[in-house]
Amino acid sequence: MKKQNKSNLKTQQIDAHLVDNQNRVMTTNDGVPIHDNNNTLKAGERGPSLLEDFIYQDKLAHFDRERIPERVVHARGSGAHGVFEATADISNYTRASFLKKGAVTPLFVRFSTVAGFKGSTDLARDVRGFSVKFYTQEGNYDLVGNNIPVFFIQDAMQFPDLVHAVKPEPDKEIPQAASAHDTFWDFISLMPEAAHMSLWVMSDRAIPRSLRMMEGFGVHTFKFVNEEGKGTFVKFHWKPKLGVHQVAWQEAQKISGYDADFHRRDLWEAIDNGDFPQWDLGVQLIPEEDELKYSFDILDPTKIIPEELVPVQIIGTMTLNRNPENFFAETEQIAFDPGRLVPGIDFSNDPLLQGRVFSYADTQNYRLGGPNFHELPINRPVNGKHNNQKDGFQRTDIPKGNVSYFPNSLGGGCPYHAMLKGEKGFESHAEKIDAKKIRGRSTSFADHFTQARLFFNSQSKPEQQHIINAFSFELSKVNSVVIRTRELAILNQIDEVLAAGVGKHLGIEPPKQLDELTLQFARQNHPDYPIKPNKP
Ligand code: HEM
Repeated sequence: MKKQNKSNLKTQQIDAHLVDNQNRVMTTNDGVPIHDNNNTLKAGERGPSLLEDFIYQDKLAHFDRERIPERVVHARGSGAHGVFEATADISNYTRASFLKKGAVTPLFVRFSTVAGFKGSTDLARDVRGFSVKFYTQEGNYDLVGNNIPVFFIQDAMQFPDLVHAVKPEPDKEIPQAASAHDTFWDFISLMPEAAHMSLWVMSDRAIPRSLRMMEGFGVHTFKFVNEEGKGTFVKFHWKPKLGVHQVAWQEAQKISGYDADFHRRDLWEAIDNGDFPQWDLGVQLIPEEDELKYSFDILDPTKIIPEELVPVQIIGTMTLNRNPENFFAETEQIAFDPGRLVPGIDFSNDPLLQGRVFSYADTQNYRLGGPNFHELPINRPVNGKHNNQKDGFQRTDIPKGNVSYFPNSLGGGCPYHAMLKGEKGFESHAEKIDAKKIRGRSTSFADHFTQARLFFNSQSKPEQQHIINAFSFELSKVNSVVIRTRELAILNQIDEVLAAGVGKHLGIEPPKQLDELTLQFARQNHPDYPIKPNKP
């Protein structure tokens, strides 16, 4: 017997949509009983088939449209239902109702790889997506993070370039392995800001033992906002109760060969057996007054805030306790969006985060076929949605009455916003902005190597060797010696032992200085590049 099927508000909502086909006579999509599901309608026993066969058309026309576009990134994923229980009193910092001590909130998680297609192997060397949709009493809150705490780029404008470089090359559509090719290393070696993240991706963190054994990070700095409207910067961390574990590269390759679904199977079986995976949610809190206190910019997504500077406080626990009933309806149709906030949480001005806020709903309008994807069972808020929006492809809600505007004097429609009821809805943090409109990059984002070095030095000797081996393997697949050498110059800025180790494998002496093209590119953002870090 299954040990799962834990019930909560969200799973009850999902269960209301389950269709049980057992012992039912098969029908067309219009409910017409099908007499014979084996044979098309023909003129005589040996044909031809007749165009009037609406039963055949009903079946084939639907089949012909079964596929929807896979996600433009993070196409390969595995999901599960669960709950979050808030365990700490942080009401001084946020008024988010689901973070009130004792609150229990249903959620759905989707873990993913980034670069591979929907059918690619789980054990690829890659970042893992770690997305959580909290179905709170004040709407859906999506924490759309990764298992690596920093990102390759600092500004959203460069995201399509990054993804075009990572995905298979446009002519051959090979290789599928994200990092083992010229276009990826061409881009990375021209982008010193990617140095920190590339070290994480070449480390064992990029080949997790299990989805149950990896950390998650919100990556960006967000903002908590309390009842009085005061903001506090916050970084989110998921800490697995099972600890953080990876496999070795040779193991990853073997596992990929034996079982490309290794992570998906492991997660499913654990939940099915009642061995529910858990993560603690931790936060690093930074008072607004401390925004400019650090040697790095807390708005820069290529930087962590070291835990010795700001410790992580645990504020709750997530438990995954139910597998999806249907992969497509739940794991595939779920729509995560970092732009989906609830009262008490807000964005910071991180330029990568700000850009993400546009991209997710935009792609989902396309991927999920129009503006009513919020009505799909997996995306519906548990507290209901009420507004005067109407129509659009695939609308399923049927609003009552003949009024769909605000304000109105006829009665009907949706006549209130929270203020009219004397309540507080979502209020953006009233941050003071006094600035000139410019297109550019802050010099506080210009130190690209200090934290990459910090990461390398934080690794044990065997882990450092794994990083050297990974760079050596991946760069040895790059055809261009110029690109290999340019990347070695970046590694040499981080750590000489690292660069020398990789250079030895490649038979190339690592250059002391950054490549001229890398410098030219960095100077597009920072004319005086390289710039010394703010403080030691
Ligand atoms: C998925 C855009 C940066 C984590 C996606 C999708 C898009 C996208 C278009 C597909 C969504 C869908 O089809 O439902 C962007 C842009 C970025 C960016 C424009 C930068 C400007 C990031 C960063 C993170 C991240 C920094 C981690 C903090 C994810 C995850 C998913 C995803 C986890 C998969 C969500 C799921 O499981 O459905 N991203 N992304 N992305 N992105 Fe990003």
